[in-house]
Amino acid sequence: VTVYLVGAGPGDPELLTRRGATLIEKADVVIHDRLIPQELLSLAPSAAEIIDVGKTPGQPRRQQEINELLVARGRAGREVVRLKGGDPFVFGRGGEEVQALQDAGVEYEVVPGVTSAFAVPAAAGIPVTHRGLSASVTVVTGRTGDPSAPGGVNWDALGRAGGTLVVLMGMAARAAIAAELLASGRPATTPVAVVHWGTTDRQRVVRSTLDAMADVDLPAPSIIVIGPVAALGG
Ligand SMILES: C[S@@+](CC[C@H](N)C(=O)[O-])C[C@H]1O[C@@H](n2cnc3c(N)ncnc32)[C@H](O)[C@@H]1O
Repeated sequence: VTVYLVGAGPGDPELLTRRGATLIEKADVVIHDRLIPQELLSLAPSAAEIIDVGKTPGQPRRQQEINELLVARGRAGREVVRLKGGDPFVFGRGGEEVQALQDAGVEYEVVPGVTSAFAVPAAAGIPVTHRGLSASVTVVTGRTGDPSAPGGVNWDALGRAGGTLVVLMGMAARAAIAAELLASGRPATTPVAVVHWGTTDRQRVVRSTLDAMADVDLPAPSIIVIGPVAALGG
């Protein structure tokens, strides 16, 4: 194997897996995103090449370029760690990177990570399922356009289905999301919790309700938890 897609965990560097740590410690190249815990880079050998492909607002490195970089370094026979926030396959475009490696015939392995979708609510004391309160949880992106488009989100159906919603990348669209869920019949009093930089020492939690969710103003990265469980842990 030459390319490892490694989940860096949700923010606290201690939440990296042991396998992830072992791989970083012997990497020739580490290609990382912006949201990974920066402390993890110091695990790499001092001679390792560290490449930040973080999608900084305003100067994004295109996914195609990242794919090409992975293929090029992988083909060179180097031990490459592609370090991605949370779990590589949860809204991380890890699937596209794996497809590029497969197409190029480069060997790879996926090392799962602790996803922010569950770890961040947990760090705020919120169980995403809870007997008697929520028997299902849906992890959904807030960054989509037309709900009828492929890969879009049918908020009306999600609203009517009940259960816990964990919205990633949802702050910009929070007013529209709340409106759609209210229109689907979710009660205005449905508890909401927004968690900023969960699991880190910058963690902030704001509690609200669905009808006031638009007023909660925390910057990215933040996760919105919607449903009765969002009242727990406060
Ligand atoms: C592109 S997604 C990547 C998710 C990642 N692959 C995972 O499994 O956690 C980035 C979004 O995840 C959420 N996120 C990631 N880490 C977070 C944290 N520590 N606290 C709050 N939200 C976080 C935010 O909604 C952020 O905009």
